[in-house]
Amino acid sequence: MRLGVLVAVLAVLFGGTAAADPRVVGGDRVSIADHPWVVYITDASGNQFCGGTLVAPTKVVTAGHCAVGRTARSTRVVVGREDKQSTKGKVVRLSGIWVHPDYTSADQGSDVAVLTLREAVTARPAQLVQGESLYAPGTKAFALGWGRTSEQAPASRYLMGVTLPVVSDDDCEQSYSLFKAESMVCAGYREGGKDTCQGDSGGPLVVGDTLIGVTSWGEGCARPDKYGVYSRVGAYRDVLLQQIASTTTG
Ligand code: ARG
Repeated sequence: MRLGVLVAVLAVLFGGTAAADPRVVGGDRVSIADHPWVVYITDASGNQFCGGTLVAPTKVVTAGHCAVGRTARSTRVVVGREDKQSTKGKVVRLSGIWVHPDYTSADQGSDVAVLTLREAVTARPAQLVQGESLYAPGTKAFALGWGRTSEQAPASRYLMGVTLPVVSDDDCEQSYSLFKAESMVCAGYREGGKDTCQGDSGGPLVVGDTLIGVTSWGEGCARPDKYGVYSRVGAYRDVLLQQIASTTTG
């Protein structure tokens, strides 16, 4: 018990001085209470490898590359757990996995999937974006995840978040020849420093509680002139809504 207090005091002290530490990359710890729809995905041993977004009581949107080749049996969704080392929230099993039928690899687009949970959860879901207005360049979006805090760092123990402006399709085309505006959207800063990174894939890019992107790919993390690329949720709205409404489990 006394050791626990000491650890807590040290955590506060060091947490308080860690403001310059890169998180996500260049972000900060955020409270899951403020973002109850953000989830992480693990294998059967509990190892986190991707993020996701709860969009209905039994449905999670994630990246195609997070779900392809996996079985429902070997995959778990963790809801309501900000700290991977805590036992808060719920570990939920799956009854189905749907991967976009056009998915081949993240940089080819169609990098979306829907996981169906075996039991409904009570956490508040996010909304799917409607229309184009939130894709206006400069829109302040927010990315969240438990991924690496720099290219070389291990994945984060805690949920991290970072504000990233939506980047124009022209700027992103300059950055990546594989960028396709029909299926992707970029976010980040020309000078780098803030970005998602490995392990954040599948997780949300939101404006408020509205999902506009799914973390998909990028060259390294937070490099200058290399934005993060996100699946353009608006382009997949209809097919995602179909999957969300579906009770058969793809
Ligand atoms: N593909 C990575 C993953 O599986 C996500 C990469 C995001 N990269 C970036 N620079 N924004 O976790």
